[in-house]
Amino acid sequence: MDWFWKTMWTPRGLILGLLISAFAVPAARAAEPDEAGETAAQRGFRLLTTKPYIPPDFDQEVFDSLWKRWPKDLRDQAEKATPAERRKMTFSRYGMIENPEHPGTGTALGYVDDGQGGWVMNCLSCHSGKVAGRVILGVPNSLFALTTLTEDVRLTKLTMGKPLSHMDLGMVSIPLGGSRGTTNSVIFGVALAAHRDKDLNVHTVPRPSNLMHHDLEPPPYWNVRQKTHIYADGFVPRSPRPLMQFMMVPQNNAARLRSWESDFEDVQAWIESLEPPKYPFAIDQALAGTGRAVFANNCAKCHGKPGVEGSYPNKLVAIDEIQTDPVRLNSLTPEYRRFLSESWFGDYGKRDYVVDPQGYVAPPLDGVWASAPYLHNGSVPTLWHVLHPDERPTVWRRTEDGYDQSRGGLEVTTFEALPDKTSGAEKREYFDTHLPGKSAAGHRFPEALSEEEKRAVLEYLKSI
Ligand code: HEC
Ligand code: HEC
Repeated sequence: MDWFWKTMWTPRGLILGLLISAFAVPAARAAEPDEAGETAAQRGFRLLTTKPYIPPDFDQEVFDSLWKRWPKDLRDQAEKATPAERRKMTFSRYGMIENPEHPGTGTALGYVDDGQGGWVMNCLSCHSGKVAGRVILGVPNSLFALTTLTEDVRLTKLTMGKPLSHMDLGMVSIPLGGSRGTTNSVIFGVALAAHRDKDLNVHTVPRPSNLMHHDLEPPPYWNVRQKTHIYADGFVPRSPRPLMQFMMVPQNNAARLRSWESDFEDVQAWIESLEPPKYPFAIDQALAGTGRAVFANNCAKCHGKPGVEGSYPNKLVAIDEIQTDPVRLNSLTPEYRRFLSESWFGDYGKRDYVVDPQGYVAPPLDGVWASAPYLHNGSVPTLWHVLHPDERPTVWRRTEDGYDQSRGGLEVTTFEALPDKTSGAEKREYFDTHLPGKSAAGHRFPEALSEEEKRAVLEYLKSI
């Protein structure tokens, strides 16, 4: 901590100190239990998994009938299955994850029970998942099939004569996601914000906005605490208000949204309390040790040093240099970024938004073994493929619970092109890098390494 105190007495340090005290969730508040014995992080997790902030997407009756909309072979199988087996099949089809607090019953981890049988989507539907068959909190849910789920829900409701919800209606004009594990969530935010003014009042006539649809995979939660700015291009300073963008459904007026700010201070505290998961298989420690040095010389200048002693530079790399898919960067206009900055979300211009970022931020790589697929759009299935740019598959399809220990990441089958006659839900099981926003190009820096060095770095990446 020596450097900390030395820095704090310089003018920069004083500014840094003011920033920390003004913006961070105060450490004491986050760590100390309240009267009910809960820390802020524990409260945040409880709120996320029990408090409905938006209307339900469907009810239990709809959930129990979804299988009737499946393709014939699956439907036949579901018809003969026990309720427990059918629940498992339903979770598997949509990438829903069992809540470790009540596995096998109740809502999935990504949904809150509204007390009247309704399933209300929460952040964890995209932000917690399964890796190698094991539930990991805060890992991107790379199995989530939001479009397939919403299509089946809509059909089921129409058959049952039940009213459609915001998600069923929203998907008519806004695609939800073109491949399992990735969603168009950035554009959900843009579309919702188009109906609000800077004070969050609802406007029925939307502001004109640019909806450049594209899919992303979220970054893992456990690295958020290292970042000064969040999102692929780092344009938003880390703070609780921007995390509330998905609550901007018409049912939530400005006063209601604002009243939840302290809840989201707790949610942020929970997110920042998460630790990267440990690699559960064997590691060649000697090789990983060699890899550590290769990483320090070739990768750390952008990604920082992982681990407790870590230092993370929050480095933005120009798009011409990184050369990964540019759609995410171009999808947000300076006008939109400025609107967020000057609105309640950005505390009316008082926060340090970046309205014109020119590239993507190199993320921290702690726990990177678990957060496959890689790059901001989730286009690269394994770490080996990150390290071998010319070997990246153009089309791939994953297994549900397989883990590729030799390549570090998803177990996949690869294809030259999408198999003929694939459509609808089946098509979304394939990641097709030909589609707009889904390119697996760029990040060619590992080309500087020899094959031996790549092998060592790969082993090191599993160990961090
Ligand atoms: C439909 C899927 C989805 C849902 C639901 C969702 N997110 Fe995200 N989240 C994403 C995606 C995709 C990104 C990456 C966005 C980007 O880089 O521009 C992201 C990014 C983030 C980040 C920034 C992470 C980083 O390291 O930069 C935070 C924090 C976050 N989400 C919090 C939340 C919270 C809190 C909620 C619930 C209120 C939530 N998210 C709901 C998909 C989702
Ligand atoms: C010039 C800066 C720079 C260098 C050098 C660099 N990277 Fe990166 N790296 C990035 C950026 C920026 C991204 C995010 C790109 C994106 O998502 O489009 C990234 C992404 C990654 C990812 C994917 C992370 C994820 O969660 O999706 C891995 C893995 C990675 N880099 C490993 C390495 C390794 C290993 C090296 C050294 C051999 C290296 N990088 C060198 C800038 C760099």
